[in-house]
Amino acid sequence: MDADKAYQEAIRHGQYSEQVRGLRCKYDHVRTQFEDFITSYYLRPHLEDIVKRKIGSSQEGLRFYDLGCGTGDGYELLTRISKEARLSQFDTRLIQEDMVDHYKGIDLSVELLKEAENLFGNFEHVDFCKGDFSNGLPLDEGEAPYDLYFTSYGTLSHCTNEELEKLFTDMGKHGENGSLILADFLGRYSYEWQNLWTHNPEEISYIDYVINYLYSEEDRDNVELSSFPLRLMTPAEVFKILESAARKAGVELKVLRFFDRSLFVGRHIETGTYNGNPQPIRLMVSSLFERGLRTYFPDLKVSYKPRDGFDWQNQALQTLAESWNALVDYTMTLMEHYDSDEELLPYPPQTNIKPLERTYRVMRQSLEGSKGLYGDIRADLIEAQLGYAIRSLEMNLQHGHGLGHGLIGIIQIVK
Ligand SMILES: C[S@@+](CC[C@H](N)C(=O)[O-])C[C@H]1O[C@@H](n2cnc3c(N)ncnc32)[C@H](O)[C@@H]1O
Repeated sequence: MDADKAYQEAIRHGQYSEQVRGLRCKYDHVRTQFEDFITSYYLRPHLEDIVKRKIGSSQEGLRFYDLGCGTGDGYELLTRISKEARLSQFDTRLIQEDMVDHYKGIDLSVELLKEAENLFGNFEHVDFCKGDFSNGLPLDEGEAPYDLYFTSYGTLSHCTNEELEKLFTDMGKHGENGSLILADFLGRYSYEWQNLWTHNPEEISYIDYVINYLYSEEDRDNVELSSFPLRLMTPAEVFKILESAARKAGVELKVLRFFDRSLFVGRHIETGTYNGNPQPIRLMVSSLFERGLRTYFPDLKVSYKPRDGFDWQNQALQTLAESWNALVDYTMTLMEHYDSDEELLPYPPQTNIKPLERTYRVMRQSLEGSKGLYGDIRADLIEAQLGYAIRSLEMNLQHGHGLGHGLIGIIQIVK
């Protein structure tokens, strides 16, 4: 199977592993500080509701089913979600390990499962097994319902419409009233694959996906890699599938929210494989979070080239690109004034874009407050704050319309 071969190639490359962290690998800072954070942020209030419901009930432990679990990434993400916490608190995790009754992860790839087993297999409540979700939800006889049916990083884009309908129908039947589904797809209108955008929303859209982003620019052209088809989705398409799955399951599959994730920092922003305007934005944003490393700010700016005939997509992406660039420019201006020891740092330019206004304020405050602190203030403090500010812009200017690398739906089963 092509997808399995492609993931095998990625894991053999060495950078597609939980344990490798750095600037160009599966677990770069964008994955941890942007992507995992954003998924956790939107999921948290709904999981918190479940945790509250469980406390005091006869079955207190949480049950998670991770479909396409890879190396067990879902277990790590879910058990790291933080609750709203005070500065003085030490342990901020919403879900402590002893609150997990059962985590089951399935995947087609034996190699990925082997690594998952190495990493998390020693926990008693964790179970990894080979399983295929293309024929519905793999279940054992009498298997108890789960609180969360979880997928991550575009996993559901592996499915056709028919496979999705069957999978959602099975989850609808198997889940309890209030169980959640986290449905993670690739967004149809990500700037990374602007060449693949199509005018007819009725047309089913696929990408011939290749995991070449782990390689440097020079190596990328010289290596032969397998590719596999992934579905590019809009919320309207997901709604339609959910509607018929809900009818078949005899339940309501209620969409609590859709969100777009990684609008300019998706994996393929720098490969140019599906867009003639590649730029090193993901690497640069990752570098913002790297301790002791100063980032070259001009390469952090987004050059958005609109595509004719896609007005709403151009408008939304252009607003984000302009706000992002204005924030980078303002931060550079602040740093210049900081260096000239001026009493007062310049106030930000006027804007009626509220999320931008707030990030301007935070950056100015960060530079003001950093005067006299220890260490490499730019590399370790200002740049990280800029990274968070850009993340906040992305989160507040997205609408869950399929404009990011990821389009994620949080769905509740209502019985
Ligand atoms: C995009 S990766 C996500 C991996 C991981 N969950 C993460 O967050 O990085 C998709 C995963 O789904 C698995 N997969 C694809 N099709 C599958 C199927 N029909 N049944 C089970 N797993 C599948 C792949 O092997 C791969 O590990």
